[in-house]
Amino acid sequence: MNIKTFTYLLLGAFFAIMVSISCNKDKDKDNNTPEDTLAQYLTYIPPSNQRIGDAQAGRDYLIYGNYIASGIPYSLVGALLPGDGNSLGRTGDNATLPPGFSAVDAINGVRVVAPNCLQCHGEYLNGQFVMGLGNNSADYTGNQSGLIAIADLLITNNFGQNSPQWQAYLPFRTSTLKLSQILKAEVRGINLANNVFAILAAYRNPDNFVWTDDPVMPVLEKMAPMDVPAWWHTKKKNALYCNGLGEGDFARLIMAANLLTVSDTAEARQVDSHFPDVVAYLQSLQPPPYPQTIDQTLAQQGKQLFTATCARCHGTYGDTETYPNLLVDLDLIKTDPLLAEGYFNEAAAYVNWHSQSWFINNPNAAHLVPKRGYMAPPLDGIWATAPYFHNGSVPTIADVLDSKNRPTYWKRTFDNTDYNYQKLGWNYTAETAGNAQTYNTTLEGYGNGGHTFADHLTPQERTALLEYLKTL
Ligand code: HEC
Ligand code: HEC
Repeated sequence: MNIKTFTYLLLGAFFAIMVSISCNKDKDKDNNTPEDTLAQYLTYIPPSNQRIGDAQAGRDYLIYGNYIASGIPYSLVGALLPGDGNSLGRTGDNATLPPGFSAVDAINGVRVVAPNCLQCHGEYLNGQFVMGLGNNSADYTGNQSGLIAIADLLITNNFGQNSPQWQAYLPFRTSTLKLSQILKAEVRGINLANNVFAILAAYRNPDNFVWTDDPVMPVLEKMAPMDVPAWWHTKKKNALYCNGLGEGDFARLIMAANLLTVSDTAEARQVDSHFPDVVAYLQSLQPPPYPQTIDQTLAQQGKQLFTATCARCHGTYGDTETYPNLLVDLDLIKTDPLLAEGYFNEAAAYVNWHSQSWFINNPNAAHLVPKRGYMAPPLDGIWATAPYFHNGSVPTIADVLDSKNRPTYWKRTFDNTDYNYQKLGWNYTAETAGNAQTYNTTLEGYGNGGHTFADHLTPQERTALLEYLKTL
């Protein structure tokens, strides 16, 4: 492996590492449950106070800021990373870097290349980089710790271990190595961010964020696979994350990636002061429009079905936008329960850590409030965000709408142009067994059941509904 491939892999590895309504058993009743029966499973989530920010400043901070202020010396890898023609339009030494990395100053002033939020929150679709589209192609199945050993060697050979360069690399090295020893993705395409933050918390003192080699609480080992949500939903949501876990000050919630390398809460305070701007920027984002022609007559039929069957949970779109901010109880939604339930079980220690940490310092407290269910997400730009459900277990919207057709094992090419405009989602082949390249819905946390709300529709009605969903 040449040095260029290697360094790219190493940095990429970083976030890798980091990174029927049937309560009643009668299935036929599932989709026709009267409104009042539905209501008992739905909980409105009220808004919380947010700081005011500046969207343009937020974009700049996102792609130039040193909220992760540790990494590999720029002088070593800056010129080696293959850029993408500068799709972010960045200037200076950032112009040649791929979107998921930033050239930033470490705390001691050494210029380093560090990963940024776009490792997980930017993705290519049909060859175009889409800001805020969740990364759905990264492969975190391998063990990355060997790469750290090679980075060690490179930095030691070039600068020595008493150098400022080594100091600027150390926080990144310490946390990345720890994560690499614990994180385990079963299939390509899923993200383990929730585990990342729980692990980072376990090795940090909640009061001052100082790293400790002995964990301050049990380390979360049960992995909950995630599909990264689109950022353009943030403006509608009263609570963040698929289970509505994140309440209070959004800016402080979403600066959590800073836990990778933060040295203390003085640094965290400095980073926190920029995040209201980042929130403002996320709230300004629009989804990419559907790129092909839409049959408007069919879409109108679909709209009526949507209004009757789906809008109660997902809201309305177009001229009169509404979003009800509802948490849907697990007993009703019945999608994979591991993530939501985990916060009452294995991940409860993390919630507890958070509730004693700097994050809840007033006046801009961020709270983690576990809930037994999932939020009905906004569906803006839904055509672009395959695969579907919080764990990315369903490859197309057609399969979301027809639960019996969902593949147990499915494999996609991970070519971002290999898109199916009939089914809205990834082209895939159904397989008979799982492996690292094949999504395996039989694994714990990877289940594809539940959300059977369109099962009772005719194939023609589902086609109309799909046509309407293209317009959102
Ligand atoms: C390691 C990958 C990763 C990194 C890095 C990361 N995120 Fe996320 N982010 C996720 C995942 C996965 C979720 C979904 C979590 C969930 O729903 O439980 C998420 C959720 C969010 C949400 C909530 C979206 C919603 O609809 O509720 C926001 C906002 C967000 N991230 C912003 C950021 C910002 C800003 C950064 C950089 C400071 C960042 N994230 C870094 C993976 C990541
Ligand atoms: C009772 C509330 C409810 C109803 C009714 C409902 N949904 Fe959902 N929907 C949800 C919830 C909750 C999720 C998230 C489930 C998860 O991620 O585990 C979801 C997820 C989805 C997703 C995947 C979103 C994503 O980003 O992965 C699509 C698409 C969707 N719903 C479409 C529909 C359509 C179309 C209808 C009408 C036929 C409908 N839903 C009816 C609650 C509902």
